[in-house]
Amino acid sequence: MRTTVGIIGAGPAGLLLARLLHNAGIDSVVLESRDRAYVEHRQRAGILEQGTVDVLRAADAGERMDREGLRHDGIELRFDRRRHRVDFPGLTGGRSVMVYAQTEVCKDLIALQLKEGGPLLFEAEALAVEGAESDRPAVRFRHEGREDVLECDYVVGCDGFWGVSRKAIPASLSRVFERTYPFGWLGVLADVAPSHDELVYARHERGFALLSMRSPSVSRLYLQVPADTDAQAWSGEEIWEELERRLETDDDWTLRRGPITQKSVTPMRSYVHEPMRHGRLFLAGDAAHIVPPTGAKGLNLAVGDVVTFAQALTHQQRTGSTELLDAYSATCLRRVWQAERFSYDMTTMLHRHPDATPFDERLQLARLDRIASCRAAETDLAEGYTGFPIG
Ligand code: APR
Ligand code: PHB
Repeated sequence: MRTTVGIIGAGPAGLLLARLLHNAGIDSVVLESRDRAYVEHRQRAGILEQGTVDVLRAADAGERMDREGLRHDGIELRFDRRRHRVDFPGLTGGRSVMVYAQTEVCKDLIALQLKEGGPLLFEAEALAVEGAESDRPAVRFRHEGREDVLECDYVVGCDGFWGVSRKAIPASLSRVFERTYPFGWLGVLADVAPSHDELVYARHERGFALLSMRSPSVSRLYLQVPADTDAQAWSGEEIWEELERRLETDDDWTLRRGPITQKSVTPMRSYVHEPMRHGRLFLAGDAAHIVPPTGAKGLNLAVGDVVTFAQALTHQQRTGSTELLDAYSATCLRRVWQAERFSYDMTTMLHRHPDATPFDERLQLARLDRIASCRAAETDLAEGYTGFPIG
């Protein structure tokens, strides 16, 4: 097999990249190790930044998002039983976010790729990227019980944190920056209308809680738990009890309960691999960086990376100049590090660290009080949450 761009991974990064290249008249092949059902039902975050919404619309991939997505103009911070709403448009000159699950983005992009795009091979596991330093890189993969080779001009590793593409970069050229956290999120889906019309991020002495949603009738909620927590160790009753305690306020707000249809524990880490390019191999999305989910940046960073690559390759194909391809890693990393900083700040401000001292706890409350009382601090949060500019 031969193509211009070999894409490893059919998560948001790989699928959107294939769409962008198709629209630019550049052929690609997507190799995805799992089956379609797995990719379309893997529960992940659900917040699209303004920039991501704009990219999906421009790629003619936003029709169902615009029909079914929920535009949100703010979030609520909850601490010390106080409630403070952050007004996104008022603080950012009109930007908002869209609540539309990553699973739905992937379903939309898969349908478009199968209908209009190049080959998307499911259950096709990339085994290795070869010849990244040459001008004829290749991906060795296994599909339908046979090993095969995809010859490319470029390879983009969109294969997530556990993929193979990053391993093709010599260790002597790799620099890794990471932090792991002693806690994770116990996430649940519940068949009950959300108890608030916007997301609620709660800092509580018992730990962090997040109220989110998937639709007007489906809630998505999270509890901070120790990193090694087994989701099955928590009963539905215990989950609701703990959510109520951490989301408590000094007014008459109440948390509606309903049947929990799914629960799982997500670990937390901050991770950046530099560089994001080696020869003809480019890394995008979780293959290159991970953020704790507190800032809802993961999918949106992946979008920025693949938009940057697609623009750079289109430029090269039209002008012969590789200047944007050569700048890919630096261009992406500038935005990645701003998102890492924002996600780290949100995580350390809102979560209870097991080793926290009373001084640390007062600092958290002082940071939240500053946001609630200072427009400049509130604006920094609103700008980070609605997204850093792409490119
Ligand atoms: N060969 C082929 N496909 C692979 C391989 C491989 N060797 N290894 C992993 N994959 C696939 C995975 O099955 C997955 O579908 O690559 C895809 C990577 O998708 P994501 O992990 O979703 O990463 P990305 O597309 O960068 O999107 C980042 O997804 O995981 C969330 O929180 C993350 O929201 C963020 C977003
Ligand atoms: C979600 O709805 O899954 C979600 C929302 C906001 C976050 C993380 C996850 O910060």
